[in-house]
Amino acid sequence: MIDPCTLVIFGATGNLARRKLIPALFQLEVAGRLPDKMVILAFARRPWQREQWIDEVSGMLREKFPHGLNEKAFERFRERLHYHEGDLDDAAAYQRLQQTLDVDPDFPPNAMFYMSIRPAEFGSVIEKLTGAGLLAEKNGWRRVVIEKPFGYDLLSAQILQQGLSKHLNENQIYRIDHYLGKGTVQNVLVFRFANLLLEPLWNRNYIDHVQITHSETLGIEARADYYEGAGALRDMIQSHLMQLLTLVAMEPPVMMDAESLRDEKVKVLKAIRPIPQNAVHAHAFRAQYARGTVNGKPVPGYLEEEGVASDSSTETYAALKLYIDNWRWKGVPFYLRTGKRMIEGSSAIYIRLKNPPQHLLRHTHHEPLTPNWIMLGIQPSEAMRVELQVKVPGLEMHTRTIGLDASYRKDDDREYDAYEDLLLDAMRGDHSLFLRYDEIEWAWRVVDPILKVWAMEREFINTYPSGTWGPRGTYRLFDREDQFWRHSLDVDGGNLEAY
Ligand code: BG6
Repeated sequence: MIDPCTLVIFGATGNLARRKLIPALFQLEVAGRLPDKMVILAFARRPWQREQWIDEVSGMLREKFPHGLNEKAFERFRERLHYHEGDLDDAAAYQRLQQTLDVDPDFPPNAMFYMSIRPAEFGSVIEKLTGAGLLAEKNGWRRVVIEKPFGYDLLSAQILQQGLSKHLNENQIYRIDHYLGKGTVQNVLVFRFANLLLEPLWNRNYIDHVQITHSETLGIEARADYYEGAGALRDMIQSHLMQLLTLVAMEPPVMMDAESLRDEKVKVLKAIRPIPQNAVHAHAFRAQYARGTVNGKPVPGYLEEEGVASDSSTETYAALKLYIDNWRWKGVPFYLRTGKRMIEGSSAIYIRLKNPPQHLLRHTHHEPLTPNWIMLGIQPSEAMRVELQVKVPGLEMHTRTIGLDASYRKDDDREYDAYEDLLLDAMRGDHSLFLRYDEIEWAWRVVDPILKVWAMEREFINTYPSGTWGPRGTYRLFDREDQFWRHSLDVDGGNLEAY
């Protein structure tokens, strides 16, 4: 049972609300998972009446679900929608909200405040909420959900955290990394800890290296305002890809509760070998998309996007090599990469095993040794695949690679994006899939030296044509010549040398 609550969304008309939050809430409505009497209250500046907000939401949902909306569910959903006109800087607007929650029986007093706003605004909104008494848990719970990025470097994250902890207890704070809400990401834990098969192999004795890739065909869309100050390293690697790394590398937790899980993730982050500033170029590579063709359509370069400075050195592609100096992983490189405007959009974890110690079949055929791979598709392929060598039927002793496919989804399984799960967890009070502050701080410690060096080197940045796998120069990160980026879960994906 989930308590009824009032979900107050700051930034309810913005990009995130439109693309992810409102559709996820609606999906929960369709699934009958929203608590009765729960209210969704938009806190926004425009002088709208409730009906205008409902129309706006209807538009968002019809855009997201162009093949038709469950109208019955929408009838229920619209009853939950309310609008509170107010400027983020106006203390009186928060006082009025407090009144509403205190006296109006239509608004449950348990309240969740969702910060779908610019990170620079978090601090002042929290202060205003405190000023109006909205964070005091006198009558029901009060929770705050904070979107990434949490700060823009180590120091700013520390300052933000100090500000939050003045006004909130840790158990009132829900720091979101939406990757942890993805079923396929949660499946990494299930795959590792519910199958004994893998555990003996999951270490430096058998694993050659690990690759974690997230590529997108989209550019920065209309987000120059945010992206110019962020770049790919902050936007994807410090958060989502580092979280994936912790799930691949962590030790089994003693229990699956929030603290045990997060303790193990933090241990991984702490064990990452610090990158001194003079080694940044050996460990990190950045680049920016130039004009090109994506899905058959010409697209502009980053510098031609609206709102981007003509001499910007913000990276839209970043790749990183990390080492985890602990008993399990010492000496195994973890390669992370992400890019916008690449040839295709996909996320996956590729784990390459070492070569067998002896090439026993070398006299019978001429193929080079082919290592085994274990692959976990995150999106769009939601599959686990293991690549093995088998004998080609026939009189000769030839081998070929086959993929053992363990597809994760069955046809009638329901598809959810990440936010449904996370919103339910926050309403339930479960922190397991939310970040503890120390995870964020240790992740900033890893990338901070790179950010510092890149910030100093503003005069040059490599480019790559849109619609490719990114810059060739990134290959210099690999430890050995026989390591290269794997681009797909398909059998020939391991042999693709093309970039
Ligand atoms: C967001 C980033 O956190 O994640 C975006 O800010 C990125 O730049 C997005 O596009 C990717 O998320 P998903 O769920 O579409 O893979």
